Amino acid sequence: MRGLATILVTGGAGFIGSNFIRYLLDGKSGFTGRVINLDALTYAGNPANLAEIEAAYGGDRYFFEKGSIGDAALVDGLFERYRPDTVVHFAAESHVDRSILGPRAFIETNVLGTFTLLEAARKHWKGGRDDALFHQVSTDEVYGSLGTDGAFTEETPYNPRSPYSAGKAAGDHLAMSYHHTYGLPVTLSNCSNNYGPRQFPEKFIPLMIQNMLEGKDLPVYGDGKNIRDWIHVEDHNRAVWLVLNRGKAGEKYNIGGENEWENIRLLETLIAITARKTGRGERQIRETITRVSDRPGHDRRYAIDCGKIKRELGWKQEIAFEAGLEQTVDWYLANQDWVKNIQSGEYRRWIEVNYGGR
Ligand code: NAD
Ligand code: TYD
Repeated sequence: MRGLATILVTGGAGFIGSNFIRYLLDGKSGFTGRVINLDALTYAGNPANLAEIEAAYGGDRYFFEKGSIGDAALVDGLFERYRPDTVVHFAAESHVDRSILGPRAFIETNVLGTFTLLEAARKHWKGGRDDALFHQVSTDEVYGSLGTDGAFTEETPYNPRSPYSAGKAAGDHLAMSYHHTYGLPVTLSNCSNNYGPRQFPEKFIPLMIQNMLEGKDLPVYGDGKNIRDWIHVEDHNRAVWLVLNRGKAGEKYNIGGENEWENIRLLETLIAITARKTGRGERQIRETITRVSDRPGHDRRYAIDCGKIKRELGWKQEIAFEAGLEQTVDWYLANQDWVKNIQSGEYRRWIEVNYGGR
């Protein structure tokens, strides 16, 4: 039986991790234990993502610890102090374009940070524990790039093509190696592109929404025909929770939206929704679409076969894409303070560096 009494969540101040902690503590999951959130608060981490959780549960069922997963003494101390029975490892450098311009942080966090966490779990859970679990949160990008048909299955060999996905792949291999070599109870999930509230506005959907709201150009890489499979962050996290409860140690589970979109078609849909909600002319917004030079090594298409988690754990997507996009646009419209707060000097520098030369 899994313990699920004290869960150490890494990267819980980011987009997906904060949504996961909300899901754990807002009653929907049925979880009754404590959550420890270890987050370094990089540019992508934002304590405001969990302000209501801190107010409702801080010091009781929710504990925030600022620090890096790569700090072995800190991580060791957290295992001593809180004795977690579960680790859900979200913390990562997560943006492909940043990995192209500066890969080092991706290796430090996604590879060495994951290694440091695994070492702590191995030390503290030694002797074999059937109540413990280390869950590695990963991406479909580790599988590489698809042609026009087919989909990634759990058996598809890893073939990462960016420093981001290569670092994630290395972390995944390490996690699985700790299962095979040391008997560490490890599960792993590979999910497709997430969207929803609180996603940092450097990623495609929130960047486009925000640029529309600010009347800026909408930068489309290359021919705009790259394809991503989009899933709402809440559908992803329900799947992670199912894996924690019922997933088999040593197994991987693909999670996907079964919802493939060419970037340009997705942008047109987002424009239609945003125009309707803001009263701006759709044609006027369309005129701001700007073709910019392509991302180097840009993966053409991702698609996920998520038959295994559906069959074995009874999971399915619940949020229809149009409804999820509407909710996401509404959230950004209603939370411009959140956006303004993170549009720091660092954010503006990033926009300058990434888009300045395109
Ligand atoms: P994010 O960039 O929004 O959040 C990452 C969080 O990790 C931030 O809070 C950041 O402060 C924290 N962090 C970074 N380095 C750290 C370190 N060394 N120590 C402690 N904390 C650190 O990312 P996200 O989109 O929420 O992604 C979360 C996880 O899900 C990642 O592992 C990512 O690879 C995976 N994933 C993301 C997607 C997606 O579409 N966003 C899809 C599949 C899988
Ligand atoms: P992104 O959100 O960065 O996710 P990922 O690269 O991890 O899939 O990008 C999604 C798609 O959108 C990808 O094909 C790249 C493209 N893209 C643009 O065309 N313009 C942009 O400004 C960004 C950030 C992404």
